[in-house]
Amino acid sequence: MRSTRFSKLPTFALALALASSQLPARASEAGALAATPQMGFNNWNSTHCRAEFKETMIRGIVDKFIELGLKDAGYRYINIDDCWAYWQRDKDGNLKPNPERFPGGIKAIAVYVHSKGLKFGLYTSAGTFTCEPKQENRGFPGGLGHEERDAKLFASYDIDYLKYDNCNNEKLPAKPRYVAMGEALRATGRPIFYSVCEWGENKPWLWAGEAAVGGNSWRTTGDIEDTYASMLKIFKLNVVLDQYAKPGHWNDPDMLEVGNGGMTDVEYRSHFSLWAIMAAPLLIGTDLRTIKPAALEILLNKEVIAIDQDPLGVQGKRIRDRDGVHVIVKPLANGDRAVAIFNETDTARDAAVDVAELGLDKSRQYTVRDLWSREQHPGDGSLRVDLAPHATAMYRISAR
Ligand code: GLA
Repeated sequence: MRSTRFSKLPTFALALALASSQLPARASEAGALAATPQMGFNNWNSTHCRAEFKETMIRGIVDKFIELGLKDAGYRYINIDDCWAYWQRDKDGNLKPNPERFPGGIKAIAVYVHSKGLKFGLYTSAGTFTCEPKQENRGFPGGLGHEERDAKLFASYDIDYLKYDNCNNEKLPAKPRYVAMGEALRATGRPIFYSVCEWGENKPWLWAGEAAVGGNSWRTTGDIEDTYASMLKIFKLNVVLDQYAKPGHWNDPDMLEVGNGGMTDVEYRSHFSLWAIMAAPLLIGTDLRTIKPAALEILLNKEVIAIDQDPLGVQGKRIRDRDGVHVIVKPLANGDRAVAIFNETDTARDAAVDVAELGLDKSRQYTVRDLWSREQHPGDGSLRVDLAPHATAMYRISAR
């Protein structure tokens, strides 16, 4: 396990005059919907298309959301993913839910989600079919060419969020496909968070946030898997995109795997810390009805969540990538700074970060709080830490 040492050099000042100067001048509509990265639940990482993905499961998750304190911690969306739809549109050309999975219909789920003060999200693809492989030519119909009709249907379900995937896109260019659904969603008049999911294939960070598209977040990578190698690969692809994230428009390195069993608790803490310092969406991807206490504790770390949700809305910047140790720094609205130090290697590492490297004023004194051990110490703002393999230490540094 890692231990933390704080250097106790004389005290110095914080020169973080950036807080107020970097706040957005006024909240746009996108900013209002997605002022901070989306937080919630999505069933995909735990169920994929298996039969357990159905109405009773989703209702159970909604109940657990309240019971386990996730709503209190800031999680809001209950999003359902691929395989909710029937393989055929109805006689009018509308999508309809799979009657075996959702016998009560989608609207009823939305009503239930809303009755708990939560928000509801749905999924489809900017293609002829969604992503689940077509079986006997019975894939699930996608939105391509049906944008207006589908957006109207979704609005009639009172959805608050749409994840728009990229499968079966007939090799048509990405941007117009995402513009078409963006326009259709806006035409409904209902505020709907628009989650662009084209896997980073066409550099969506360059166009998905434009007004014509209106994307509130865009996937930057392919699908995450519940392995350390997958999480690490995705982190490395997403961490370099910090300049493109801002309130209303976030890089999305995919949903959380915390709790699914394929990583150690140390690795899941790294996953959660790295996603938070990268201002990534925090979408829980594990079955909350069976979650283990250690995983729940990670997801409920309110101090780490606060780093992700900080209203300044800046994605952390990597300031060091050396010998397998990554240092990422995120300025916060009140002038504090969050720092994550991640050891990607298979051996223990001793890391030191100097106050100047963090951009702090050497003449001031700081309080350094470890957001996992919850210990805090006065110091000059510099950090020293012993990191176990794959571990991340996360701090909030405040001027005293
Ligand atoms: C794609 C997406 C995933 C998930 C599946 C569903 O792979 O990237 O997040 O939505 O489709 O089939």
